Order: sequence, then C-alpha cells, then structure tokens
Amino acid sequence: MRTLLSEKELQAGVAQMAVEIIAAYGERPLTIVGVLTGSVVLLADLIRLLDMPLRVGVLQASSYRSGTTRGQLTINSEMMLNVAERDVLVVDDIFDTGHTLVEVVAKLKELSPSSVKTAVLLRKHGRQEVDFSPDFVAFEIPDEFVVGYGLDYADQYRNLPHLAVLEPEDLANNRS
Ligand code: IMP
Ligand code: MG
Repeated sequence: MRTLLSEKELQAGVAQMAVEIIAAYGERPLTIVGVLTGSVVLLADLIRLLDMPLRVGVLQASSYRSGTTRGQLTINSEMMLNVAERDVLVVDDIFDTGHTLVEVVAKLKELSPSSVKTAVLLRKHGRQEVDFSPDFVAFEIPDEFVVGYGLDYADQYRNLPHLAVLEPEDLANNRS
C-alpha cells in the first residue's frame, strides 16, 4: 500500500474545511448528518473543530454492487435526528460517482429541512456521473481505490490513520 495523504495532511485538510463550514453558517445552529460507515473518522475529527451550536445524527447508506452495474442504494434513517426546519450538513467520506450523496440529499429534502449542504473528505477525479457538486471538499484525489481514515475495502482498513492507495497486489492478497 502506498500513502496518498499522511495523518498530518488529513488533519490540515479537515481543519481547513472546518474553517469554511464555520464561515458559511456563522452562529446558526447546525444539524450534521454523517453517512455511515465511511464518515465516522471524519465525523469525529470534524465536529470537534466546529465551535458552534451543533447536533449530530447519522444515517446508513449501503449499495450492493455486482460487476460493473451500479447496485441498489438502501438508506436506513432510523437513527437520524429530526431535521425539519433545520440547517443540515451531510458529511460523507468520498464523492465518487456521486449517486450516494445525490440520493441521500433527495431523501433528506423530503423531511422539510431549512437547507441541505454537503461536505466530503475526498472527491475522486473524473468519476462523477451526476450533475451535483458537494459544497465542501477537503481533498481532490486521482481515480484510484483508497482506504483508511474511515474508508474500507471489504470492511477492512477503516482504522488506518492515513489514506492509502490499494494496489492490485493488495487486492490479490486480500482475496486469498
Ligand atoms: P458514489 O455513490 O459512487 O459516490 O460512492 C460513494 C461510496 O462508495 C463512498 O461512500 C464509499 O463508501 C464508496 N467508495 C467509492 N470510492 C471508494 C474508494 O476509493 N475507497 C473506498 N470506498 C469507496
Ligand atoms: Mg460510504
């Protein structure tokens, strides 16, 4: 595995994104909705940098992919806070094709929030299939499969403190 972003670089990028979020909302109370499971590490680091009135909820978005066809996305929002008439910020790990975030935002908008914005740690270059851009992006990355800082491969590696590129030989080893 090759390190793409060190622990220090991740911290600096998340801190910069926190500054931008604070500037956008000021003292307005914010409801953060973290998308499980990939956002957990970002969520923990980000909320501690947001010195403002804040509520934190989560929802789970999972998609099951087979081959090259995009899987059906399931959103489980049982654990989410009430978002009606609230300013909502959705936090996710990575903006890849973009379908997950678009569907999560559409689902949240059905619940009559005052506003919905989105923040992601990573945006993968050249992968987007949707006409939508996250409001806050900490890092642009090349089109490679990354793990660590919450991101997984087959539910592994979320606990790496840095962001690493999974190389083809890592994928082969994992299959054994
Ligand atoms: P999207 O719907 O294609 O934008 O996919 C977003 C989800 O796919 C993310 O929340 C991740 O769970 C997963 N994903 C996309 N790219 C990567 C990657 O490089 N590493 C790990 N997970 C990824
Ligand atoms: Mg995810």
